[in-house]
Amino acid sequence: MRDTVVSAEKMAEQREYADLAGRLLYERLGRNPKACTVTFGCQQNEADTELLRGILSEMGFLFTEKAQDADLIIFNTCAIREHAEMRAFGNVGQASHIKRANPDALLCFCGCMAQEQSACAKIKNSFPYVDILFGTHALYRFPQLLYKRLSTGKRVFDTDGEGVIVEGIEPVRKAPPNAWLSIMFGCNNFCSYCIVPFVRGRERSRDPERIVDEAKKLVSEGYKDITLLGQNVNSYGNDLGAGIDFSDLLKRINDIEGDFRVRFMTSHPKDASKKLFDTMASCEKVCKSIHLPVQSGSDRILGLMNRKYGIEQYTELVRYARSVMPEITLTSDVIVGFPGETEEDFIKTLDLINEVRFDSLFTFIYSKRERTKAALMEDLTPADEKQRRFDRLLEVQNRISREINENYVGKTFKVLIDGESEDENYTVKGRTEGFKLVHIKGSGEMMGKYKNIEIERASTWALFGR
Ligand code: 5AD
Ligand code: SF4
Repeated sequence: MRDTVVSAEKMAEQREYADLAGRLLYERLGRNPKACTVTFGCQQNEADTELLRGILSEMGFLFTEKAQDADLIIFNTCAIREHAEMRAFGNVGQASHIKRANPDALLCFCGCMAQEQSACAKIKNSFPYVDILFGTHALYRFPQLLYKRLSTGKRVFDTDGEGVIVEGIEPVRKAPPNAWLSIMFGCNNFCSYCIVPFVRGRERSRDPERIVDEAKKLVSEGYKDITLLGQNVNSYGNDLGAGIDFSDLLKRINDIEGDFRVRFMTSHPKDASKKLFDTMASCEKVCKSIHLPVQSGSDRILGLMNRKYGIEQYTELVRYARSVMPEITLTSDVIVGFPGETEEDFIKTLDLINEVRFDSLFTFIYSKRERTKAALMEDLTPADEKQRRFDRLLEVQNRISREINENYVGKTFKVLIDGESEDENYTVKGRTEGFKLVHIKGSGEMMGKYKNIEIERASTWALFGR
């Protein structure tokens, strides 16, 4: 077994700590302890929280949505942009009230921010009521950290260590039909703006057998929409040396029997291949939908971002994908205001958006991150100019999204119903294969099922049907 996989002995040791910590808490409280988990950031963080909940559940924890009712509160944080960090600190600040009302409540701070020196220093110095601080690499050691906190009464910090793969923890997921399934962790790409490789470590792929087994289990449990997760799924397997790549993995999952569909994120354009699109086209359970972050429409900026592709290569990929899957939905990420981005560069981004016509776009204003290459680049564009570019980009994309969505009106799509609608005029909501949100006039008995829905109306953000 590769040395990135946490050994069975170490996992067994953690199970012993889980037992000890669980007992200690039960004795103190005279009942099962309650935990509240709060997650910021991406799907990978959501999946990590599900693993943590698995660990907590093994220790006898029950769960509550209300932090004030909890004996243990965990903030799983995100470091991707400054705004995310401010939100996490704001929430931890708020939690001081909870500690005042219930001094025995334990407060934990973990995730990507806990892999950052400056954030850790701030937690240690400015938030003395945080009991346990642990990074993404220490997640599986949580039982030991909790036991240490309970048995010594001292604050516990575990923010070092190397990136690992943890197997053998049963995540506590949300009820079907949707499930996250991590296939790999970390990133090797070092895009010049991005903090992820620093906080999540180098790329490491899970064993394909484990992934396929987990997918089979999910299908047997009634999950119908499985999202394979990784920072860059297209480089899955490169570190395994087992002759398996992401397309091969997709095929193996497609071969699992059952009524389900599978999607994945995120794909780096430099590693998205024709083989991938051919595989998507030929596998009936693989959704014809891809999130392919382009980041900028300017080759010069892409070079500075260290993205390792140009716009010609990107648009060629899109052309090929659409030639083998005409119905494919396409989404992307764009950063505006990267250091040195000129009006001319920005216009190239607008041109690209108008040319490709993404179904939707996640747009961000560049945020300077410590330790990254871009943090050292001269950045003279004023904040209000960046905001104006952001607004212009949004206006163009909103128009395109609305136009694309309006084309759905009058047609019927297979929708997986997955929750209650937040729109007061509709009862339930669901997703098409292309991941379009659909609000539906229907009934609760549709929940978790595929239904053919006729689209009656469309907006920039959603479709509406019955
Ligand atoms: N500033 C702004 N956006 C960023 N992203 C990543 N790092 C930064 C940053 N420093 C965006 C990218 C990425 C998405 C997940 O977040 O667009 O694809
Ligand atoms: Fe960050 Fe680039 Fe890795 Fe994505 S591929 S996580 S943007 S470094």
